[in-house]
Amino acid sequence: MSLYDDIEKILISEAELQARIKELADEMNAVYSDDDLPMLICILKGAFIFLADLTRHLSFRHEIDFMEISSYGQGTTSSGVVRILLDLATNIEGRHVVIVEDIVDSGHTLDYILRHFAARNPASVRVATLLNKPTRREVNVPVDFIGFEVPNEFVMGYGLDYAQQYRNVPYIGVLKPEVYQDRA
Ligand code: PRP
Repeated sequence: MSLYDDIEKILISEAELQARIKELADEMNAVYSDDDLPMLICILKGAFIFLADLTRHLSFRHEIDFMEISSYGQGTTSSGVVRILLDLATNIEGRHVVIVEDIVDSGHTLDYILRHFAARNPASVRVATLLNKPTRREVNVPVDFIGFEVPNEFVMGYGLDYAQQYRNVPYIGVLKPEVYQDRA
């Protein structure tokens, strides 16, 4: 059985993702210039594919760094417990920072990152997320660039996992309920 047999439906196709990411990049191209030299911070693991596609449409000079955050463990809902698994390699003091996320759900992860960064005195902080699930928000967090609003379904693919798998699926999809019910 293929991992694709576990998928109930496609929510956002490859073509829709690529078109919207180009638009998001254009929104960012209108905000930043070479002089800003922003630092794009990819929140691992989920945002790695989004970052890879987004960065290739940006026309201003920028740098990239990575931070790995975990909040979900093996489950399908946020535990609210956020841990830094890998911290930045770069000093962001005085820098313009763009946090690149795959999804903002409860908001706990982003809230934690924003507080963590504020203590390091960056020049500015903005947030770009591919997906936003506003119906699930528990903490109010600012998000500047949003790719798509998604309903309260367990989305996966294009970097987003279930139990560390399915990140390679090239679109955003929804798993069949039996896939995660059997393993919950
Ligand atoms: C996911 C996602 C966000 C966070 C959003 O990460 O990448 O960072 O959860 O959820 P929240 O708004 O409820 O905090 P996850 O912990 O699943 O790690 P991963 O990116 O390595 O899969």
